[in-house]
Amino acid sequence: MNPAEVAEKPARSWSFGTAPGAVPLLGHVLTLWRRPLEFLASLPAHGDVVEVRLGTGRAYLACHPDLVHHILVNPRIFDKGGLFDKARQLLGNSLSVSRGDEHRYQRRVIQPAFHSTKIADYTSAVGDDTRTAIDSWEAGRTQDIGEAMHALLMRVAARTLFSTGADDRTVEEARHCLRIVSQGIYKRTISPLDILEKLPTPGNRRYDHANRRLREIVESMIGERRRSAADHGDLLSTLLRAEHPDTGQRLTDEEILDQVVTFLVAGSETTASTLAFVFHLLGTHPEAERRVHAEIDAAVGDRSPVFDDLPRLEYTRAVITEALRLYPPSWMSMRVAAVDTDLGGHPVPAGALVLYSAQALHHNPELFPDPEEFDPERWLGDRAKEVPRGALLPFGAGSHKCIGDVLALTETALIVATIASRWRLLPVPGTTLRPEPKATLEAGPLPMICEPRRHP
Ligand code: HEM
Repeated sequence: MNPAEVAEKPARSWSFGTAPGAVPLLGHVLTLWRRPLEFLASLPAHGDVVEVRLGTGRAYLACHPDLVHHILVNPRIFDKGGLFDKARQLLGNSLSVSRGDEHRYQRRVIQPAFHSTKIADYTSAVGDDTRTAIDSWEAGRTQDIGEAMHALLMRVAARTLFSTGADDRTVEEARHCLRIVSQGIYKRTISPLDILEKLPTPGNRRYDHANRRLREIVESMIGERRRSAADHGDLLSTLLRAEHPDTGQRLTDEEILDQVVTFLVAGSETTASTLAFVFHLLGTHPEAERRVHAEIDAAVGDRSPVFDDLPRLEYTRAVITEALRLYPPSWMSMRVAAVDTDLGGHPVPAGALVLYSAQALHHNPELFPDPEEFDPERWLGDRAKEVPRGALLPFGAGSHKCIGDVLALTETALIVATIASRWRLLPVPGTTLRPEPKATLEAGPLPMICEPRRHP
């Protein structure tokens, strides 16, 4: 049966529009390249489905949450493809890029490793790592908060994945390599000419070296762990023991290596950027900052925050949700039509690119009144119930929904609580936030001044 016939269709009539400003031959490529965030946020005003010209080709951006949902829950029709095909060559056929039966198989094997009951174990040391990082902060000193969060998140990712196995020097080297690798993957993925990455340029050599070293570091951790055979209660132990629920089959070393590199790429920069945006928002909204401090102080008192405190940090979690709305780390994603189909009644030929963008959804005034306002109250009490279903989409949906969503939210809340219980971070006067849409939406340089709240 043609899968198009079985897809569940959202029932209503939809508007269709074309993005303005296409230029001959290039279409909207230059606009997407130069100011993608503004461009994407402007498109829902043109229809529920908006056609965008990429060179001489056409892509379709779903702007209504129901249509985005339709795309994401019908992977047989809207498959992972396009730039993901390129990423597959770079990341191996790991969870984030695999498709079809292979993806379903991997997801079933790996999903138990991210079960919510495991999260408390994985994050038990996050508070310690955060305290160690902020112990070296000095009153009045300026920190680049993006850089500080990136370093911390790499430590946290290493701890979550490898628990005791990684020393500080190795973690720092892995972080250095990961930065180069993840930016290299992004550049290679969007580059129109494969030949460019084969040239012996300094940039390509740096990428090859970093990629090799990162994989060597991860490989040696896996080897060490295989030899010790002990269960360390971390993500790597869980992956090594993971069995397919039906066949009992386990992952090979090569598969685990690809998955771990994928988790590092997918998990650390996204979470680090979220934290940087949270601290920027708190630093520029003193009333919200005061409420966060009061809530943490009331819930935690003089001790350090722990996992069990998180349910009481309702306002702090609302701030994090609002940061993810305003600055979604995964700002745009895509699928490819596997068959001739339609989107909102508009024909979409097999092979066409179908786009969805958390940036476009989250900044749509029809879905979020005053979308540019930082307003954590949107996520509290009755107001939270007014948010249209599917309008908030930082972690995607459907079979490719972020497998690390609960882990990411837990780590973020714990780190915000641990830092905010000890420090205020004040923006350096004259600093302007300039989010950088790369593989992840990054906060860019964000110098903030550390002011102690209380001493441990
Ligand atoms: C704030 C932090 C994070 C954000 C905003 C985020 C966002 C996303 C989004 C939007 C997707 C779906 C992409 C698509 O449908 O094309 C995704 C997938 C994925 N994420 Fe995350 N992520 C975060 C943290 C993490 C963490 C901590 C991990 C792991 C340790 C992780 C691992 C993955 C993996 C493996 C996938 C692919 C899942 C699949 O295709 O089955 N992410 N993430």
